[in-house]
Amino acid sequence: MLEMKKIYHYYGKARALEEINLKIEEKALDVVIGPNGAGKSTLLRVISGLEEPDRGKIEFLGERIDGLKPHKITKKGISHCPERRRLFYDMTVEDNLKMGAYVQKNRSIYNKQLEFIFELFPRLKERRKQRAGTLSGGEQQMLAIARSLLSNPKLLLMDEPSLGLAPKVKKKIFEAIEQIKNEGTTTLLVEQDAVLAMEVGETIHLLEEGKIEMRGTSEELKREPRIKKVYLGI
Ligand SMILES: Nc1ncnc2c1ncn2[C@@H]1O[C@H](COP(=O)(O)OP(=O)(O)O)[C@@H](O)[C@H]1O
Ligand SMILES: [Mg+2]
Repeated sequence: MLEMKKIYHYYGKARALEEINLKIEEKALDVVIGPNGAGKSTLLRVISGLEEPDRGKIEFLGERIDGLKPHKITKKGISHCPERRRLFYDMTVEDNLKMGAYVQKNRSIYNKQLEFIFELFPRLKERRKQRAGTLSGGEQQMLAIARSLLSNPKLLLMDEPSLGLAPKVKKKIFEAIEQIKNEGTTTLLVEQDAVLAMEVGETIHLLEEGKIEMRGTSEELKREPRIKKVYLGI
């Protein structure tokens, strides 16, 4: 579905991504793990067009998308749920959701997605008249995910959805991610919490200093001594 071929990205002279080759199959749930500053957010930003790669190619459903403007990429079916949520804090839950649906002109698809979202996160339904800024951290993350689902994406990019959340809330978010995947949405998730990532991810890519240093199924990676020591703490 998505293929990155030899992608490089620089911020000024600093290299953030180096020769990234990444292939995501339809209906897969892939996870990129790696430490702070490894280039995980940059990788997602390059896919969704927020950064233009300096070298390489990105194909989505057989078409080149690198160099396209973000809204064009959204229209093709890629939705990016960014790091640290970026909600409209003064607006209600409902209005935040409407903002997420601006590419979804089809009313019946919108309503169907909304129904799915409220099933996924009943909390949001209860709180739909509440201002986003007054939600708890976990609820804000739910809202961010919900918003990026309203465009009914083919590929969902998620940047550290569990950041700063309590373990119980993290678990809830990850259950929702699995449910989204089971509904057939292809997902690329970036996550620092390797333990959680390995629980849900099918294919895991380890990104370090802008390079993919290892990849495999979570079972394969769990057996790697270095992964065990550095990322799983066992
Ligand atoms: N807008 C930017 N300008 C300059 N450097 C940046 C910018 N965004 C990220 N970087 C740098 O690029 C590297 C990768 O960052 P990032 O993709 O945010 O990593 P991660 O998400 O894995 O923490 C880091 O060294 C970071 O400081
Ligand atoms: Mg990041």
